Amino acid sequence: MEYQDFTMVIVCALGLVSFLKSSINFLKWVWIMFLRPPKNLKEYGSWAIITGATDGIGKALAFELASKGLNLVLVGRNPSKLEATSREIHGVVHEVEVKSVVVDLAKSSGKEIVDIIGKETKGLDVGILVNNAGLAYPYPRFFHDVDLELMESILKVNMEAATWMVLSVLPGMLKKKKGAIVNIGSASTTIVPSYPLFTVYAATKAYLAMLSRCISIEYKQSGIDTQCQIPVFVATKMTKLKASSIFIASPETYSKASVRSIGYGHLCTPYWSHSLQWFITNALPDNLLNWCTYSYFVAVNKTAKLKEISRHKKLPPAQNSVE
Ligand SMILES: NC(=O)c1ccc[n+]([C@@H]2O[C@H](COP(=O)([O-])OP(=O)(O)OC[C@H]3O[C@@H](n4cnc5c(N)ncnc54)[C@H](OP(=O)(O)O)[C@@H]3O)[C@@H](O)[C@H]2O)c1
Repeated sequence: MEYQDFTMVIVCALGLVSFLKSSINFLKWVWIMFLRPPKNLKEYGSWAIITGATDGIGKALAFELASKGLNLVLVGRNPSKLEATSREIHGVVHEVEVKSVVVDLAKSSGKEIVDIIGKETKGLDVGILVNNAGLAYPYPRFFHDVDLELMESILKVNMEAATWMVLSVLPGMLKKKKGAIVNIGSASTTIVPSYPLFTVYAATKAYLAMLSRCISIEYKQSGIDTQCQIPVFVATKMTKLKASSIFIASPETYSKASVRSIGYGHLCTPYWSHSLQWFITNALPDNLLNWCTYSYFVAVNKTAKLKEISRHKKLPPAQNSVE
């Protein structure tokens, strides 16, 4: 064989291998996103605990899990919102039990959370924990500009409370050798290399991803599936996005995909369009993404600050001085 023919054969073979690899990956993605049968969640246990179940993703997840026949423990800080959510769920799914636990995750210590969850779930066959409650800044801010109280609340709710919730349910799950733990992470730590001006938020979500990864390895042999789920944009009060679109999921659409993914892998992006967005950002250089996120958030920060200043100016003097 001549040298040129030989080179051509090698190039074609490499091209074929690369094409086959991409085709297999694509088919695998189609399988995971649209065709893979969901786990029978009732096999983990008959009750699911959801934190931050009074709004957004958590509320939609509560409806979705109830529709699968799971009884619910809703954890939230606002008794009337908990009561309303519980009533709404009963209005749609009559045959499940719904319990509410009032706890402010930003103000409770680890011991208080473990004690109250232990007490309120005593005797219940808890199969699933969804650590969903989360807080972010109202708009992007430089690290030194985030007020201390907000920073503390973000650290407590996103990171500490999630840790204590895991600690609360693990003994029961270990005893029956079954369980699923879902921590709601964020695209800010996975699909982009950095998330400047949302630093504390992104850092807490990175903690959750690592917590999930390690716990999943520690307890896989004990029948406990731990997972960090990665939503990108979902139209909730946190994001202030009102309308859903092909790129922005509604809480209901996201929760359907989320529930279908429970039990599969320690890190996942349940919604197909979010997964596609991850694929695209993965192909872009980190420096470009860093520049884009930084420039965009600096611009949003400036606009939000201007709005804040003009709002202050419009307030009557008495209110202004309270601020
Ligand atoms: N929306 C997105 O695009 C997006 C993207 C990536 C990740 N996430 C993550 O998804 C999760 C849910 O976000 P979301 O968009 O659904 O937010 P959301 O609409 O603001 O809902 C947050 C939930 O957490 C609860 N919560 C907040 N602080 C609490 C506290 N101190 N104690 C107890 N509960 C508390 C809220 O209770 P109240 O009803 O009392 O406020 C609410 O039920 C968060 O972990 C977030 O980081 C969201």
